[in-house]
Amino acid sequence: MLTEQQREIVKATVPALKMHGETITRTFYDAMLKAHPELLNYFNPANQRGEGGQARSLAASVLTYAENIDRLGNLGSMVERIATKHVSLEILPEHYPIVGRHLLGAITEVLGEAATPEILNAWAAAYGQLADVMTGRERDLYAETSTQPGGWAGFKPFRVVRRVRESEVMTSFHLVPADSVPLPAFRPGQYVSVKVHPPSYDYEQVRQYSLSGVPDGRHYRISVRREDAPAGAPNAPAGLVSGFLHDAVQENDTLLVHVPVGDFVLDETSDRPVVLISGGSGITAVLAMLEHLVANTQREVVMLRGVRSRARHPFAERVRELARQRPGVRSITLYEAVGPGDVQGEHYDAIGRTTAEAIRHYLPESEADFYYCGPIGFMTAAESALDELAVPLNRRHSEAFAPDPSFVTGSPDPGLLGQAA
Ligand SMILES: Cc1cc2nc3c(=O)[nH]c(=O)nc-3n(C[C@H](O)[C@H](O)[C@H](O)COP(=O)(O)OP(=O)(O)OC[C@H]3O[C@@H](n4cnc5c(N)ncnc54)[C@H](O)[C@@H]3O)c2cc1C
Ligand code: HEM
Repeated sequence: MLTEQQREIVKATVPALKMHGETITRTFYDAMLKAHPELLNYFNPANQRGEGGQARSLAASVLTYAENIDRLGNLGSMVERIATKHVSLEILPEHYPIVGRHLLGAITEVLGEAATPEILNAWAAAYGQLADVMTGRERDLYAETSTQPGGWAGFKPFRVVRRVRESEVMTSFHLVPADSVPLPAFRPGQYVSVKVHPPSYDYEQVRQYSLSGVPDGRHYRISVRREDAPAGAPNAPAGLVSGFLHDAVQENDTLLVHVPVGDFVLDETSDRPVVLISGGSGITAVLAMLEHLVANTQREVVMLRGVRSRARHPFAERVRELARQRPGVRSITLYEAVGPGDVQGEHYDAIGRTTAEAIRHYLPESEADFYYCGPIGFMTAAESALDELAVPLNRRHSEAFAPDPSFVTGSPDPGLLGQAA
């Protein structure tokens, strides 16, 4: 428990620490990963790049927490989102003291001579309090997911029974559990994690993939977009895990899969119309939601997709079919680039991106709930579009296909910006 004086000290030192966010991040990660190289099995090297905005998520969220130390109730959704992500990665209580030690080391370095024992004690107490909140929520999530019918702990072997090419860059993997135990249901929008060891890398890596199909108790489907090196960084490596899955994982191979988790799910208590907006690979989570809404509800649905071009337009036929299945469901596809054979009304509906203007054009008449999902650049654009349309925060639900940038103090890495991928 923090004393009043410790709370004041933490608040007073946040501005100085925020000013040096980059140094904190660098010092923290470099020292921690050097002392504990086994943690490289958990962290994604692409998120640790110096200029990468996402690299700051962990340290920045600690600073956000410290800023709000008098109003911890404000942080409920942040804790839920991070705890869920941690559970998908199998982060355990014994990892917390390691992170705490190195965060404190980074704070000491940034504050220099100003880092008095009182200041360091206050920060240690603050981190300890946050770690208690996080590990408490994670313990409950681990218990819920492993003890549900069909649930399991850790990563369990699944066989790839089918690979389907969905577009030039997206491939679906149909996965059945090697032990044939019936699978737990999941909620549309949730994701599994996959743990692999690409031969080009010294460590294991875990990535999250949304479940793009509907629960049937027998198999899960994930749909993976191959990540190329960003246009602005042609010498950068291509995506590690998506490349490995595309190039090396064939039918009958085994993948290690984590039980589904995720808080990007439909609010089933609402009967308002639903606007589903996706950019590029974000279609996966939103497609599962569309399947559910069409089959199980009478809610009005508007599905708006940003797609780069016809060659990168997965699930086109399935979305059209779903939109035809019942009245009140509209699907609008926006192409960034139209090719010679592309027919408006058949392949796409309009040219452009999912801007506020485009969204406004297709909005339902009554107030709607908004669900949007995709890569970081798309999410930033979608947030500003919804701001422009004055959509209240309590009607927005989102999932970024990368560490959540909303905890980040600096601007996102332009190399990862691209509306539709
Ligand atoms: C909740 C959630 C759900 C998701 N669902 C899906 C889904 O359904 N389908 C899907 O396809 N993806 C999904 N993702 C994204 C997925 O988890 C991976 O992030 C994605 O596959 C990329 O992983 P990777 O290992 O291939 O790329 P990484 O190795 O993580 O690289 C990411 C990008 O950074 C670039 N990069 C790497 N190193 C450098 C460098 N040094 N300099 C510059 N650039 C660099 C790479 O070229 C690549 O473009 C989801 C993510 C989350 C968080
Ligand atoms: C109070 C302590 C912690 C806080 C506040 C915190 C915060 C965060 C945040 C904000 C993210 C990004 C979430 C997102 O993707 O949206 C994250 C991701 C992550 N965290 Fe934590 N974290 C803490 C402790 C830990 C610990 C103890 C570990 C284990 C060593 C850990 C490992 C990770 C990993 C591996 C990721 C994914 C990032 C990547 O892929 O590189 N975190 N954490």
